[in-house]
Amino acid sequence: MTWEERIANYVKVTGFPRSLFVSEDGRAVGTWIMGNNYRVKSTYYGGYPAGYLRRVRALFPEKKKVLHVFSGKVDLAAFPGDTVDLNPKLAPTYIDDAQTLLKVPLEDYDLVLADPPYSVEDADHYQTTMVKRNVVMRALQRLPKDAHVVWLDQVLPMYRKDAFAVEGVIGMVKSTNHRFRVVTVFGRV
Ligand SMILES: C[S@@+](CC[C@H](N)C(=O)[O-])C[C@H]1O[C@@H](n2cnc3c(N)ncnc32)[C@H](O)[C@@H]1O
Repeated sequence: MTWEERIANYVKVTGFPRSLFVSEDGRAVGTWIMGNNYRVKSTYYGGYPAGYLRRVRALFPEKKKVLHVFSGKVDLAAFPGDTVDLNPKLAPTYIDDAQTLLKVPLEDYDLVLADPPYSVEDADHYQTTMVKRNVVMRALQRLPKDAHVVWLDQVLPMYRKDAFAVEGVIGMVKSTNHRFRVVTVFGRV
């Protein structure tokens, strides 16, 4: 699918105004203003904001096998898929470290959503150590060509240009006094 097609589907399925555009360099760029809905359905610390999964799903209607990495209590009704988390109490499909993903048959997946802790303070909440983003990106190189990674964070993770291309950059604003975040969409090349 082209990014024009993805964005057209996003507008059609979500009914939100068109706030994503294809830039002259072919990348999808734009901003998501999530608004004042503070509720994270699961009430899990750091859970995806309301509506996030619906938006991402609308951008990738053709994907068949989805993996949520750093899955927490992700709302699988909003975006079905398998899950990876270090915390066994969350009963993920795979209890595994995102920095290695040794238990995960990555070659089977065509879309990964990643939502790591953003800082040491955030990691403390989950009683984990802060992840090395570049190491996670290296593990994700086992994804098949044409797979995508949708990474929500406050920074652009380091990645290898011979393995991934940045296809989209979407700024995400929740409401006043919330952190400004960025959704980076990587395509496996
Ligand atoms: C920001 S939360 C994700 C919340 C999720 N998006 C949701 O909607 O519920 C980050 C998650 O990453 C997990 N985590 C932290 N370090 C990890 C690691 N090295 N490998 C796998 N999971 C990890 C934590 O247990 C926590 O559940």
